This record gives sequence, structure tokens and C-alpha cells, in this order.
Amino acid sequence: MDVATLRRSLSEAGQDHVLQFWDDLSLEQQTILLEDLQSLDVRELNNFFHKAMDGFSVSPNQEKVDARMEAVPRDVLGSVTRDREHLRDWEAQGFKQISNGKVAVLLLAGGQGTRLGVSYPKGMYDVGLPSHKCLFQIQAERILKLQKLAKERYGLQCTIPWYIMTSGRTMESTREFFQKHQYFGLKEENIILFQQAMLPAMSFEGKILMEEKHKLSMAPDGNGGLYRALGAHGILKDMEQRGVEYIHVYCVDNILVKVADPVFIGFCVEKEADCGAKVVEKMNPTEPVGVVCRVDGLYQVVEYSEISLATAQKRSADGRLMYNAGNIANHLFTLHFLQKVVEVHEPQLQHHVALKKIPFVDTNGCLIHPDKPNGVKMEKFVFDIFQFANKFVVFEVLREEEFSPLKNADSQNGKDNPSTARHALMSLHHCWVLNAGGHFVDENGTRIPAIPLHANRVNGPTQDHTQNK
Ligand code: UD1
Repeated sequence: MDVATLRRSLSEAGQDHVLQFWDDLSLEQQTILLEDLQSLDVRELNNFFHKAMDGFSVSPNQEKVDARMEAVPRDVLGSVTRDREHLRDWEAQGFKQISNGKVAVLLLAGGQGTRLGVSYPKGMYDVGLPSHKCLFQIQAERILKLQKLAKERYGLQCTIPWYIMTSGRTMESTREFFQKHQYFGLKEENIILFQQAMLPAMSFEGKILMEEKHKLSMAPDGNGGLYRALGAHGILKDMEQRGVEYIHVYCVDNILVKVADPVFIGFCVEKEADCGAKVVEKMNPTEPVGVVCRVDGLYQVVEYSEISLATAQKRSADGRLMYNAGNIANHLFTLHFLQKVVEVHEPQLQHHVALKKIPFVDTNGCLIHPDKPNGVKMEKFVFDIFQFANKFVVFEVLREEEFSPLKNADSQNGKDNPSTARHALMSLHHCWVLNAGGHFVDENGTRIPAIPLHANRVNGPTQDHTQNK
């Protein structure tokens, strides 16, 4: 498409300001801008914006959501603590599916890691473990181990394909990182990287914001961009060809994630669910996790920012928070369900609106850093499809075994940062050693009591001071 044609169609969509600096641009910059604009459907973009803003202004106040919320009913809820007698059977069922090659894992890794403050993909982050393994390596090794365990149980050499969703901002560095590390011992053909779409940030008036004179301000379209990307890149076809039936979808930032957890898989299979969510008990009303619940009778996650404090503080008769099913972004879907979502439901999913301070180039070509929100980013969320499930189930697990997300840098606050992630993993491993009959000694060879004497020892010793005896 030539510039004149492009200008016409942009003008019809009210977005021709993106070409206002065209004559000042170098040839190279013009090419970049042209390519970006040609890959953008501006009519569709305007449509997304209007729908998202309509949805946003229809239910802007929390009372409305709060009044329509219901906690997850007991009959869809499984639990590692309350259902101990079933755990072995569920695990056996999960391993059976894994060893028959019916399980894949899908990592959501298209986020920008803004809060952590790194410019590279979060999966490459080293939280400072004695081994200095990054999140990608930890997950890769868990996949390898599961394949080995499944083989030991059922004698079948199996593969758990690893699908990794990246974005325009993380694709190349992720690919290079895996190549450089020889795929962490996995086979290259079983790690499938694909890219989610990006959307421009918009002003409140619905105009595309520019981050440079020749560059639109682009951001990934949310982790619910998954469903469009699955269709666009033929990922479901690939899964089908490999014989995959169950897909475990999870976030990159949880250092304790049990990838393709056989117990969770077995639970969902036994319950004949097409969609499942793992949760941990929400610790306190202000913990920044979404809660799995029903709104108007439909399952969904209500984010912490969407409910009022009064609702978040509500307690049941047993003293626990009423909305305590804390979403750890850890889901199981059947392939059949995902096919239905991609073919039928994806277009119905509406973007959520996040008000942001977005640096932009003004009409004089100056870069402005606003000090209050000046525009919106539009995102779909991975859990927006729960409502379409035929059978939805929830599985409650223990936080200390399965959830410690890496969201913030150490300097920001004391929560969900590299130190808490590192300590959570080391505490867990510490428990495993103790439960297996081992003990720890300090640097002088003195045995460290299993129950710490002082509160400040709760996270266990560092590797320099330990030996597993
Ligand atoms: C997410 C959950 C929240 C949950 C919390 C637990 C969503 C929408 N929210 O919140 O309910 O309580 O985790 O830690 O899932 N990502 C993409 N593409 C994007 C944006 C994000 O792949 O466009 C990926 C990220 O790389 C990450 C995951 O999605 O792996 C979660 O994203 P993040 O922005 O960290 O979600 P939270 O707001 O923390």
C-alpha cells in the first residue's frame, strides 16, 4: 500500500495524525512506520477502543460488581488438604495422561516486566539462588523431571511440548536465550515459541499515541491475547497433530509453579472438566491477587482492583475471607475447549481498559512524560474464557508449595520480589530435605534444629552453610 492510500484510510478512521511528521522522517524511519501501519487494522482498533470504553463506563463503580459476586461453590472445589484420600489417584491419572503424550504446557511470557524494572524477558531473570538458575531454566528442568518420572511409572518415553507465548518485545531475546542455553536439555522441536499481538496505546479520545515521530506506542494485548495468537499461528493444529488433549497454562513469574502438575491434571480429568483453575487461599483482604468467583452466575476472576475493600474484607462464618480463592494464573484447558474458544468465543471477548501514564509525542514533536494518566492500554485476560466452560473446576493448593510470584524489584517493597521468591523456593527445598529424613549443619558442622529457634531463621540456611546429610 502506498502512503497516499494509507493516509486516506487512516483519515477515514480519524487516525491520520500518525503521519503528521512523515515529511521530517528519514527513509528508514518512513519504512518502519509504514510497516507498522500496514500491519494494523485501524477500523478494528477503533472498534476495540469504543467497545472497551463502553464496557468501562457502564460498570465503572465497584458496588455493581461487588453486589453481583458469589464465592465458588463447594461442589466445584477440590483441595490438596481436604481431599487427601484422592490425591494418589489424581496423581496416577495425571501421570497416565502425561505418559500417553496428552499433556502440553503453555507459558504466558509476553508481559513487559514493568514492575520488576528489567528490559529483558522475566523468564531470564536470576533471583539469586545459589545455582543462579533463571526462571526459564527452573521450569525447563521441571518438565524434564516430569518426563522422567512418567517414564519410570509407565515405561513410556513421553514428551511434554512447551509452548511459549512471547510478544513483539520479548520474542527475539527469548529465542536467542533458549538457543544459547541449548534449550536447557529439552529438544528444540518441543519448544514452540509464538507471538501475541500488540496494540497501540490510545488517548482518552481514541487517538493512537506515538512514542516517537515514527513509532506508535505499542504494548502486548494482554495475556488473553493468547486465544487470538493460538488461532493466528496454528498452535492448536500443532497440538492436535501431537495428540495433545490437556494444556496447562501458567505465568512466567511464579518460581514455585508446578508445571503440568499431575495431581491437578488428574483432578480435572476425573471431574471431566474442560477448564480448571488453581487457587491459593487469599491471605488478607488487600493481597494483590484476583479472586475466582461467579459474577451473575458466570465464572470469572475479579481482579483486586475491581472490588471494594468492604467486599474484600467480608468473612464467612468460619472466619475465612468470603472471596478467598486467590487466582495464581495457573489453568488447565482441554484442547477441545480451546478450539471452541478460538473458533467461537474469542471475538466476543472484550478488552479491559487500564488507565496509564503513557509518554507521547505531542503535535510539536516533543516527547511528553505525563504526570497523571493520559491514555489507555487495552488488554484481554486469560481467565475471561472461564464463562464458556461446560464444566469448570477449582483446585486449592498450598501457597508455600506452589505460589511465590516475582512482580517487583527488591528495592520497591517487601513483597513478591527476588528475595521473597528465592526464600520461598529454598524454604520448600529445606522442607523436602527434612521430610526425607535429612538435616542441615552449619559451617562448624553443628546440626541446625529442624524447628528454628528464632523467628528470623524461618527461611532456612543458605547453601554455603548447609549440607544434606
Ligand atoms: C495475574 C492475574 C491475577 C493473579 C496474579 C497472580 C491475569 C490477567 N491476572 O496478575 O489474577 O492474581 O497474576 O500472580 O492473569 N502476560 C502476557 N502478555 C501480556 C501481559 C501479560 O503473556 O500482554 C503474561 C506475563 O508475562 C505473566 C502473566 O501474563 O506471565 C501475568 O501477567 P501480569 O501482568 O504479571 O499479571 P498480574 O497483574 O500480576
